[in-house]
Amino acid sequence: MDLPEGLASSGALEIRARLSSISAGKILDVATGDGDFIQTLMKALKDYDSFVGIDHSEDEVKKAKTAFDEEPVEILQMDAEDMDFEDGSFDTVSISHSLHHLANIDAVLSEMKRVLKPGGHVIVQENYSDPGQTEAQMTDMLAAHWDAEIDTLLGKTHFKTLRKREIRDYVEALGLGGLDVSDTTHPVKCLFCEKVFECADPLNENVVSFALEEIDRNLARFGGLQDADAARLAEEGERLKERIRRFGSSSPSTLFLVGTK
Ligand SMILES: C[S@@+](CC[C@H](N)C(=O)[O-])C[C@H]1O[C@@H](n2cnc3c(N)ncnc32)[C@H](O)[C@@H]1O
Repeated sequence: MDLPEGLASSGALEIRARLSSISAGKILDVATGDGDFIQTLMKALKDYDSFVGIDHSEDEVKKAKTAFDEEPVEILQMDAEDMDFEDGSFDTVSISHSLHHLANIDAVLSEMKRVLKPGGHVIVQENYSDPGQTEAQMTDMLAAHWDAEIDTLLGKTHFKTLRKREIRDYVEALGLGGLDVSDTTHPVKCLFCEKVFECADPLNENVVSFALEEIDRNLARFGGLQDADAARLAEEGERLKERIRRFGSSSPSTLFLVGTK
């Protein structure tokens, strides 16, 4: 099947090729959320033995546990700044779309390096906010920043999307060998999506409905906010809905980094 226009030239194919060269052994996915990146790695890596996914949120851990059935995946509730694993416990460590959710990015990356075996792989995937992105990508990014502001007011760590240079600086500080840095306008997970033509179209009816529902889910979280903040953020939510209907929604561009310890 030919890929949709845009996805074929996005950079995602090169990232899939890089992942398909890695025999990943025992993998730790940090800040795993509902385990979405584990699903992508399972499809993209050359091979692997097993996964451990950690997250500090009880709710996310519950969700991730239901996402896997027969697969060799263990999900644990754990703070990534202070992991319970011995030094060199894993062949590969990964973190996806989570750097901007961390209170101390350096502490988490340094823990990831500690629990990795010498010669093991570090895989980092993170959206970036540098200019040059489409209106649909900007819609998604503005919605993420709105979401981050709501989280922050509710006491949850959530920063705006990082710049490419910031992401590189955090990972380069680990002093990994042979660091590959790739850039893609479409997430590598799109390559494995059964509805690839649908998700690659920012104005597809289902894509637009999903993005609008996401705004509504966030509007429903306003209970704990001060009235003035709630009113301001509700107006912003309505502006975002107008943007979604006009331009559609599409994931921001992503930096993908692979290095070895
Ligand atoms: C955007 S979500 C995860 C996304 C997921 N990795 C993916 O690629 O779809 C970010 C996650 O970071 C988790 N998180 C934030 N700080 C953490 C910490 N110190 N230890 C473990 N998990 C943390 C949050 O609970 C949240 O589930």
